[in-house]
Amino acid sequence: MSKFYITTPIYYVNDEPHIGHAYTTILADVLARYHRELGDDTFFLTGTDEHGQKVYQAAKEHGVEPKQHCDETVIHFKELWEKLHIDYDYFIRTTDESHKKVVQNILQNIYNKGDIYFDEYSGHYCVGCERFYTEKELVEGKCPQHLTELKLITEKNYFFKMGAYQQKLIDYIHKHPDFIQPDFRRNEVLGFLRQPLGDLCISRPKSRLSWGIELSFDKNYVTYVWFDALINYVSAIGATVEDDQFSQWWPADYHLIGKDILTTHAVYWPTMLFAADFPQPRTIFAHGWWMSDEFKMSKSLGNVVRPLELIDLYGVDPLRFYLMREMVLGQDANFNLESFIRRYNSDLANDLGNLVGRINTLIRRHFDGNIPVLSDGGENEKELKKSGKDVGIKVRKLIESMRVNKAVEETMQFVRSINRYMEKSAPWKLIKQNKEKAGSVLYFAAESLRIGLQLLHPIMPSRMDQVLAMIGVTEIDFTNHTWGQLKSGTELGKFEIPFPRIDLSVEIKETPEDEKTPDKREEIEMTGNQISIDEFRKVELKTAEVVSAERVEGTDKLIKLQIKLGEEERQIVAGIAQHYQPEELVGKMIIVVTNLEPTIIRGVESNGMLLAASGKDTIVLATMDDPSIGSGRQLI
Ligand code: MSP
Repeated sequence: MSKFYITTPIYYVNDEPHIGHAYTTILADVLARYHRELGDDTFFLTGTDEHGQKVYQAAKEHGVEPKQHCDETVIHFKELWEKLHIDYDYFIRTTDESHKKVVQNILQNIYNKGDIYFDEYSGHYCVGCERFYTEKELVEGKCPQHLTELKLITEKNYFFKMGAYQQKLIDYIHKHPDFIQPDFRRNEVLGFLRQPLGDLCISRPKSRLSWGIELSFDKNYVTYVWFDALINYVSAIGATVEDDQFSQWWPADYHLIGKDILTTHAVYWPTMLFAADFPQPRTIFAHGWWMSDEFKMSKSLGNVVRPLELIDLYGVDPLRFYLMREMVLGQDANFNLESFIRRYNSDLANDLGNLVGRINTLIRRHFDGNIPVLSDGGENEKELKKSGKDVGIKVRKLIESMRVNKAVEETMQFVRSINRYMEKSAPWKLIKQNKEKAGSVLYFAAESLRIGLQLLHPIMPSRMDQVLAMIGVTEIDFTNHTWGQLKSGTELGKFEIPFPRIDLSVEIKETPEDEKTPDKREEIEMTGNQISIDEFRKVELKTAEVVSAERVEGTDKLIKLQIKLGEEERQIVAGIAQHYQPEELVGKMIIVVTNLEPTIIRGVESNGMLLAASGKDTIVLATMDDPSIGSGRQLI
């Protein structure tokens, strides 16, 4: 068993958490879960960065003391992490007494060593970055990150002899190719280190900013916020105070960061560690940014949903899946509602959801809901078994080389290969000729599915637990990777559609019929829209009485209706809110397509579709003139 220590940046509490913070934290959580499930002794650290001018100003704007502001904002982070199923081991706040003590100890040690001196300094300070820039680094006199005008500040301060460690750092980076990742970021840092490295101003006079950790060797100064913040990675595990825990976990295996904070982590932090005589972390990994411009521009597409609102609409696991699947680690990615829905529908609703549904239905229908008995398989089974073994090894390698999106894709390809196996073996036909063989096919499919679900577990822990229970797996030994863990005779758990389809045409406003271009209309005419009577007979149309109706929160188009179909009650969602008030619908006898597969519309499940005619600016419901017909009647 090996140990695995992973950290996220600690987030400033000047603002509410957003998708960027969520992404780094989910990624760390996925990696931590992955290692825990491999049996590694894992420590996952996250937290908040609470000192510095930025937080101080935010508190002032809110008219409260800085500590009170921090106490209030930190709750939003903790709540969001809970909502996102982030299973951290420790949450550090830089205002914790234990952290302050370690910062003071480390500074004192470096001071005693002679690596800190007092001097006068002039520099351009950016509050957004919480750092000084030299004249050379400015872009047209502005901050290179924020493009804001910067103030020139001249004052007496303490300086850390960072420049003295420049060559040592360059040598270290060359000798440890994994130290800064991805490779192009390592080259970026080496490029930066080709210029002489100055010393680092590590204090702020209290007369200018008192919100910080006091220097033990000068009570008139507080510690510079980055010097304070970076130390969280060692203070959380008791550096300089509780040696046992520290030596158990340090050095960290991964510092996960966004590319915006590469210099502070790959230059300031290593030189600080050299000075403090601590070993270096194994890997500092900088990922790219989630861009939202395209997302914002998509206002014209209709409903704009903020990424975190997707949790309420579609659940947290689909969001985790999307974020992990779409970002190639190291590069930027674009967050886009349409691509989220398409990915959800194709991978989760179709490939995975349908497979779970098919296996479940067949086992329930023909084997009393118990996992069937396995018998010897042929070539197809051999092949599937082999891909089950291979995919585990591949995923492990990919995760270890931080290609998380590839690992997800490999697993989904395996899921697709189980679907192909089902198609080839057609147990629904085989059952009539050879029930035993059909049972064995279902065993092979279900056992392969179990492997796929386990591999997706770190990404979608809660949904995968539910789906595993549907195939009878309630206790999972993740460290056991052998084939054949499903026990014949085990009863399946309760089945529910794990990933109902999302109706893309409702979520992203599609071009209405009337606005379709003549070309488009012709294309439809040419490709043909006729169906046979048999196809039409498949559509189940029934009369339904509206029992209650209410608007779907957050949209101006949708109404959620509870309808009665004879004895049965169900819920449907319809885009008629601009034409009907919910109250006027109650009691109406409408016509509903009842055998459509369930779908989620704006987070609300819809089990059927009502019929209505749409005119240029209006929608009129198809209703029964004579309600005495009753609900649940089949239309003929
Ligand atoms: N407090 C410092 C970090 C100190 S660590 C010792 C800080 N905090 S922050 O609140 O600004 O968070 C920055 C981090 O949030 C980034 O490094 C990145 O991990 C994440 N993200 C913020 N915006 C992001 C995107 N748009 N996309 C992806 N992640 C980004 O800097």
